[in-house]
Amino acid sequence: MTEPSIVPIPPGLQAAGTRSAPFLPVASLAELPSGALLRVTHGDLDVLIAHTERGLVAVDDRCPHMSAPLSVGALDGCVVACPLHSGRFDLASGETVQFPTTGGLDPEGGYHPTWAPPGSDKKPEPTDLKARARALTRVRRMRYYPLRLRDGRVELAFPED
Ligand code: FES
Repeated sequence: MTEPSIVPIPPGLQAAGTRSAPFLPVASLAELPSGALLRVTHGDLDVLIAHTERGLVAVDDRCPHMSAPLSVGALDGCVVACPLHSGRFDLASGETVQFPTTGGLDPEGGYHPTWAPPGSDKKPEPTDLKARARALTRVRRMRYYPLRLRDGRVELAFPED
């Protein structure tokens, strides 16, 4: 079996504290067929390893919107869909492909209105406290972990204390 590629970490999005951190084995390559989404846990940190069409990549297993586990989402090419509010995120670039239905702020602070998939009701625009909280929730930038392959195992570098 040919080893998959490793997706380069987008500029500026490498997790703090991982630059000189040691690599630790976290999974077997056999657990990560093409299209797989796998959660691995290290201490209180949950990391998603995805086998995208561009190769393997490791990011927080927390949606950059409201922290839902992306490992139970769906992967299409390099784009992972969050199970909670239909947000879609490109794991190769770190960019938001589809803003969450709840609306809110993008990483630069720009406001996005609520929207609804065909056949469902649109979420309310901010009028009450809950809607206002949604509108002020910022989709953060994704955070990436260095990943390498050694002897059929996937290794990650986690932040050092
Ligand atoms: S928590 Fe993922 S889109 Fe809202």
